[in-house]
Amino acid sequence: MGAMPSSNVTKAVIPAAGLGTRFLPATKASPKEMLPLVDKPLIQYVVEEAVAAGIREIIIITGRGKRAIEDHFDVSFELEENLRENGKKGLLKEIQAIAEMADFCYVRQRHARGLGHAILCAQHLIGNEPFAVLLGDDILDAPVPAIQQMIQVYQRFQAPVVGIQPVPKSEVHQYGVIKAEPIEPDLFQITDLVEKPVPQMAPSNLAVIGRYILTPEIFKALEKTPPGKNGEIQLTDALRILAQQKVMYGKKLQGMRYDAGDKLGFLKATVEFGLKRPDLGKPFLQYLKSLKL
Ligand code: G1P
Repeated sequence: MGAMPSSNVTKAVIPAAGLGTRFLPATKASPKEMLPLVDKPLIQYVVEEAVAAGIREIIIITGRGKRAIEDHFDVSFELEENLRENGKKGLLKEIQAIAEMADFCYVRQRHARGLGHAILCAQHLIGNEPFAVLLGDDILDAPVPAIQQMIQVYQRFQAPVVGIQPVPKSEVHQYGVIKAEPIEPDLFQITDLVEKPVPQMAPSNLAVIGRYILTPEIFKALEKTPPGKNGEIQLTDALRILAQQKVMYGKKLQGMRYDAGDKLGFLKATVEFGLKRPDLGKPFLQYLKSLKL
């Protein structure tokens, strides 16, 4: 047994190797993580959430066709030079800040073996530390960053924390679903999890939203996890193994969640984020009203 992992969560893993089939044809040649919500790619919202929670090291799991992500979080010499020459100081600062907000590193997931396998690809960069996992499809708009709400729970209990929200019974088949005992308002102790159950088999209506605080024990569980739903190594199945051995918490996340990897969810997020923008909100609202829906 190694020493207890520290209570500081400083690393985040963002899996971004998926094919984005729910968003074809847009994702045929460009990463779905780069789809823009108003004017920022989805993955930037997720990185900003992690950084706002004090995370400094971002490990992105990539694959073929995902190089635009690396370029986005890198220095862009020509662009910066151009903005400087044209006196566009505000924009220059904004662009430079993207590459400076964290340390980025990339691991290629060579085979599409699922979310659990993607997390396993980061093992050598994690060491004996707790870490956050943020899935880019889930955009959370919350006063306290969602992953920070979960880090607060981790700091109290030093145990894995899974982000959850209630969903209608008819939608449980799209999520990992937890079986749990309530222990405090918005806090549950997880006893079991099922990946994408049919409604009759769902142990609750509490769905796993794409945010996790994990401890290094997850890697051993992942190594033991056989392929599950869709023949992929599922993170939910590894968490299920761990839940038999360890205390694990479910934190009901405050805030609005959008499934931005889905076309309808993406459109909803676009409208809401557009309306919230100080520079666009008013004319956009006027336009929407003029549609007389
Ligand atoms: C993944 C997880 C699932 C979770 C969901 C949240 O599924 O496997 O447990 O509920 O993210 O968005 P995916 O949406 O990648 O199929």
